[in-house]
Amino acid sequence: MIVLGIESSCDDTGAAVVNDEKEILGEALQSQEEHKRYGGVVPEIAARAHLEHVDEIVNTCLERAHISLKDVDAVAASAGPGLIGGVVVGVMTAKALALALDKPFVAINHLEGHALCARLVHPIEFPYLLLLVSGGHCQILVVKDVGAYERLGTTIDDAAGEAFDKVAKMLGLGYPGGPMIEKLAASGDDSRFSLPRPLLNSGDCNLSFSGLKTAVRKIIESYSPDGEIEHAILPKQDVADVCACFQMTATDCLVRKLEKAIAYFQQKYPAGRHLVVSGGVASNTYLRGKLKQLAEKYGMEFAAPPIRFCTDNGVMVAWAGLERFRKGFISPLDFKPRPRWPLDENAPKAAGAGGVKA
Ligand code: KG4
Ligand code: ZN
Repeated sequence: MIVLGIESSCDDTGAAVVNDEKEILGEALQSQEEHKRYGGVVPEIAARAHLEHVDEIVNTCLERAHISLKDVDAVAASAGPGLIGGVVVGVMTAKALALALDKPFVAINHLEGHALCARLVHPIEFPYLLLLVSGGHCQILVVKDVGAYERLGTTIDDAAGEAFDKVAKMLGLGYPGGPMIEKLAASGDDSRFSLPRPLLNSGDCNLSFSGLKTAVRKIIESYSPDGEIEHAILPKQDVADVCACFQMTATDCLVRKLEKAIAYFQQKYPAGRHLVVSGGVASNTYLRGKLKQLAEKYGMEFAAPPIRFCTDNGVMVAWAGLERFRKGFISPLDFKPRPRWPLDENAPKAAGAGGVKA
C-alpha cells in the first residue's frame, strides 16, 4: 500500500510517498523564504508560492521514490486547519490526481499529521499522550486511535510557537523565531530574569503564553531610551539571557501542565505508555530534554519524530493518509477545505475534555 501526501497549509510545500512497511519512498519539501522580511507568514504570498511549486514538488517526490503516479493507492492532502489559500492548493492538487488516477482522496487534518507522525518512526501503540506544539496550535491530547482524540488542554491565547516567534521579533531575530531563540538561549543565563507562568494554578491543563510574552516585552522596553521597543538596544549577552529565560519558562509551563495531564492519562488509560511531542516547537532540543525527564519521572516512554519531521512536511501527511486509508477512511471529492478543524470535534464531551481538573 502506497500513499502520496501533500502539505501546503502554512509556508511549507511538501510531498511524500510512504508505504505500509513504514518506508518513506520519496519526499520533497520547499520552505518558503518569501516571508522572512515580513516577520511572519503572509497568506497571499504563501498561497501563490504553493501554487507555483506544488506540481514540481510532487514530481520531485515521485522521481526520488522511483515510482510513477499509477503506483499510488491513495492521495492525501492537508485539508485544514491552516491558511485557506494554501490549503486549497494542496487539496485541489490531490483531488485532481485522485480523480485522474481513479484512486481515493484522503482529507487530512493537519494536526492529525503532526499527531500520528511519531508512529511512522517509533513503535508507539494507542493510546498515547501528546503535546502538540506548533506555530498555530498548542494542545495536550490523548491520541486514542486514528481519528479519535480527547483534548485535555489548549492555549487560551497564543500558541507556543507563536510566542517564540513574537519574542524573536521583539528581539529583532527574524522569522521563524524558535530556532534562533534556541540557539541564543544556549549561551544565556536562564535565572537572570524572572518571568510569569500564566494559568499555573488554574487547576486544568489549559495554557497561556500572552502574559509571558508581555513580560518579555517589558524587559526589552526597559533597554530603550524612550520606552519604545523599536529603540531598545540590548547587549548580546542580555539577548541570550532573555532567550534563555523565555525558553525555560515556556518549557516549564508546558511541563507543569503535562504533569497534570499525565496524572489523568495514567488513571484513565492505564495501558498507555508513551508521552509524545510533535509540531514545529518539538524541534527544540531543550524542550525535548525536559519532556524526556518528565516521562522518566512518571515511568513513561518519551518519543518524538526526528527533528526534520516536527516542522511541517509532506511525510506526516502521507503517513496520516496511510493510517486513515488502511482503516477505510476516505473522503468525497467534494470535501471542502476547512480553515478551522478541531481534532476532537466528534469526541463525546468526557470529564477531561476542555480541561482536566487536578
Ligand atoms: O508545525 P510548524 O512547522 O507549523 C505550524 O503548523 O504552525 O511549526 C512552526 C513553529 C514556528 O512558530 C517556529 O518558530 C517553531 O515552530 N519552531 C521552534 C523551533 N523550530 C521551529 N520553536 C522552538 N524551538 C525550535 N527549535
Ligand atoms: Zn504544522
